Amino acid sequence: MTGDLSAFKPVLGVVLGSGLGGFTELLHVTERIGYHELPGMPESTVPGHDGAFLFAKLADKDILVASGRNHLYEGHSARAATEGIRFMYECGVKKLVLSNAAGTLNPKYKPGEWMGISDHINLTGKTPFKGGANFHDMSEVYSPAFREQLATAARKRKFALHEGVYAAVLGPQYETPAEVRMIRGFGADAVGMSTVHEAMQAKALGLEVAGLSCLTNWGAGMPGASLNHDDVLAAGEKASAELGEMLAAIVLEGCA
Ligand code: HPA
Repeated sequence: MTGDLSAFKPVLGVVLGSGLGGFTELLHVTERIGYHELPGMPESTVPGHDGAFLFAKLADKDILVASGRNHLYEGHSARAATEGIRFMYECGVKKLVLSNAAGTLNPKYKPGEWMGISDHINLTGKTPFKGGANFHDMSEVYSPAFREQLATAARKRKFALHEGVYAAVLGPQYETPAEVRMIRGFGADAVGMSTVHEAMQAKALGLEVAGLSCLTNWGAGMPGASLNHDDVLAAGEKASAELGEMLAAIVLEGCA
């Protein structure tokens, strides 16, 4: 950390998921803070995930990007994995997009398309709030107004952006076909290994939250399913230009 960040007033915070780092190419990064420089912040160990906060400008707007995230499957507690969300809040972020790569469970939502998260199912059994009577209301984690802004941005550009329920599993292994059938039966449209704890923490801090899943593959056992991390990264990289355009639209048109 070198510069003075007191003048930094982020209009948007963004957490970038697997293979979705391309958005940063649109930005002018003024300061980079490695996760290892922050006390309590775990380092990212996953290929395709960087490990730094980028203090950046898009036109004249400030944006704070968490490039790379910490997952529970790396061995972190839900509390540790959400340290970055508390840091972004401390830096003044009030509006936050959580992006991720996910498997699609809905036959109408195809790999290569996007899903705005309307709600989630936390199947990890873990919470960032453990240790107290932290009875946070989770009845509307994902902001309907923010979702609508993203939907408008996608519609204008003819990007395929659906809406649906994201289920989070612990990972790191992908699901079995029987697990996929169960998770679909629970009402989920997509499955992944991240995002829910961050969304819960952000909501508890009063942030306006949106979640965007890049659908990288069919869920295990579904026709055409093929699951490996390299394919997930490649699908994410292909889609990341669209993510960049949607986020830029939010910054430049949606949060003046
Ligand atoms: N399951 C869980 N996590 C994922 C998947 C999946 O199919 N694809 C990308 N992340």
